[in-house]
Amino acid sequence: SSLFLPQMERTFIAIKPDGVQRGLVIDRPNKFIASCSLLRKILKPSGYNNQISEIISRFERKGFKLVGIKIMVPSKGFTQKHYHDLKEKPFFNGLCNFLSSGPVVAMVWEGEGVIRYGRKLIGATDPQKSEPGTIRGDLAVVVGRNIIHGSDGPESAKDEISMWFKPEELVSYTNNADKWIY
Ligand code: PPS
Repeated sequence: SSLFLPQMERTFIAIKPDGVQRGLVIDRPNKFIASCSLLRKILKPSGYNNQISEIISRFERKGFKLVGIKIMVPSKGFTQKHYHDLKEKPFFNGLCNFLSSGPVVAMVWEGEGVIRYGRKLIGATDPQKSEPGTIRGDLAVVVGRNIIHGSDGPESAKDEISMWFKPEELVSYTNNADKWIY
């Protein structure tokens, strides 16, 4: 391509276990639901999780580019490293237990201003205070279960990306949108 694109800013975004699992009610159906095929059919569409696609879609619609993604259950030790800045906080242990309690969708998003604006898309830490229209404002209720994490600055973005991803897991590519967005 004749278009020169400098290495764009990147940030680390994670959908936490509550964001990944919240809709999966049919996964562990109780006896009654399991015994009733009609109920299963009705529940399935609403029971299916759509938080992952919802979150990805909001970043995509803005014009940011997904350059890395995987799903994993991080170990407790790994989450302690991820949140090392918070080790003095009273909620540190609970937060680490929570992040390691189930599947996390780890992503790297790229684009001009993505670190700061990604945080804007996510909304304030406490979902009671995040504005409607933000991810937490629209989709979450309490601070311990705020469904998504985003790096809070260039340094944490760099550290978190290299913790969660190997360089070869990140893909550089251009798409048609690039020449209109940038
Ligand atoms: S702080 O207190 O200023 O460091 O808080 P903040 O930078 O906004 O949040 C850092 C991460 O800690 C999580 N957090 C909490 N978890 C559980 N309980 C309480 N009370 C709580 N307060 C903050 C918050 O969600 C941030 O995690 P991430 O994964 O970045 O959202």
